[in-house]
Amino acid sequence: MEVLLTRDQIASAVASIGQQITRDFAGETVVLIGVLKGACLFLSDLAREIQLDATFDFIAVRSYAGGTMSGGEVQLIKDVITPLRDKNVVLVEDILDTGLTMNFLRKHLVAHQPRSFKIAALLDKPSRRRTPIEADYVGFKVPDKFLVGYGLDYDERYRNLPDIRILGEDEHVV
Ligand code: IMP
Ligand code: MG
Repeated sequence: MEVLLTRDQIASAVASIGQQITRDFAGETVVLIGVLKGACLFLSDLAREIQLDATFDFIAVRSYAGGTMSGGEVQLIKDVITPLRDKNVVLVEDILDTGLTMNFLRKHLVAHQPRSFKIAALLDKPSRRRTPIEADYVGFKVPDKFLVGYGLDYDERYRNLPDIRILGEDEHVV
């Protein structure tokens, strides 16, 4: 599979996002919320690049593509445990694609009345967006290809690849 982003490129983008968050929340605390399971690797590397008092939590959703391109529904399958009221929340996601997942999670988490709410997405596929939502911190804008590695899966496989690769057309059936 063709490599799109090497582990070194990923590491420097993650370090840069960590520095931005450290600067933006200087003197404050942050709660990092990872979206299971794809964001686990990104969150664990990002957390070590943030020089602040930080805690973690995790949330999980299931998304249904729906029969048509205009369908698409997101269901919460695991909520956060941390009380978020008056906290600085940074939602950590592997990739912002159609935006339906982030849109759902933003509404769900903002309802807890955090002090601030930001989105950190390692990857952004802007060409696929179906709802207007942008991340506050983005590692890379990527083309409309199916990507695997560094947390991203195809049918639960390839999450443990250290770099991000393009899954070939003949390697999956959509
Ligand atoms: P969205 O709701 O369409 O923005 O979907 C985001 C979710 O879709 C991500 O959290 C990923 O789990 C998954 N996803 C989107 N694009 C890719 C990809 O290229 N490879 C693997 N998973 C992807
Ligand atoms: Mg996935």
